Amino acid sequence: MSLSSDELKQAVAKAAVRELTPGMRLGVGTGSTVDFFIDALGESSLAVRLAVSSSVRSEQRLRAHGIQVVSLNAVSEPLDLYVDGADEIDGSGFMTKGGGAALTREKIVASASKAFLCIVDDSKQVKTLGRFPIPIEVIEMAIEPVSRALLAMGGQVRLREGVLTDNGHPILDVHGLVIDDPRAWEDRLNALPGVVTNGIFARQGAAKALVSTQQGVRSISFG
Ligand code: A5P
Repeated sequence: MSLSSDELKQAVAKAAVRELTPGMRLGVGTGSTVDFFIDALGESSLAVRLAVSSSVRSEQRLRAHGIQVVSLNAVSEPLDLYVDGADEIDGSGFMTKGGGAALTREKIVASASKAFLCIVDDSKQVKTLGRFPIPIEVIEMAIEPVSRALLAMGGQVRLREGVLTDNGHPILDVHGLVIDDPRAWEDRLNALPGVVTNGIFARQGAAKALVSTQQGVRSISFG
């Protein structure tokens, strides 16, 4: 019998807890896979020193497990490890993120960590990023000009209806872009005035991925 999507996520979440060492200062991402990771961490006997969360959702879950959550500004050195899921990951550890609207805080916490451990199931592995629409958090007054610029780049833009991020901003989802050079695309999208953060994680790529498959969890390290 094959494992369900949730069982695959649970398996990779437990594998991620086995990567941790006691006393770590942890950055924690957001999403359904991370929810399983937080639960697995809370149910394990491993004690982390503290966690910095990338969302209100993850913060509440961490606290419910009695894990100490502090503000990023209360931490004076890089966090030991950032653990998060992804919407897509390619063969270089570059990712698309933000399906859960937490991309800005995710990128901030990832950038303040020594390494990014990505936890996914194998449905998230792609050759080229862009099959999943690229989320872009944008200042509200810039929705129209940013959308026009994205259209000129070859994308089709949809405003994510009824969604504001934890920072109070709307999200544009951009379909149809082929992210052939993730670093260049990340910089290009960031350069549009009014863009807060885009969902390409190339500058903050994964150092390692744990990939859940029907045959078990595979570990991939990226140079
Ligand atoms: C949250 O904004 C996203 O970046 C998530 O990390 C990503 O969407 C993966 O989420 P799932 O684990 O729910 O697929």
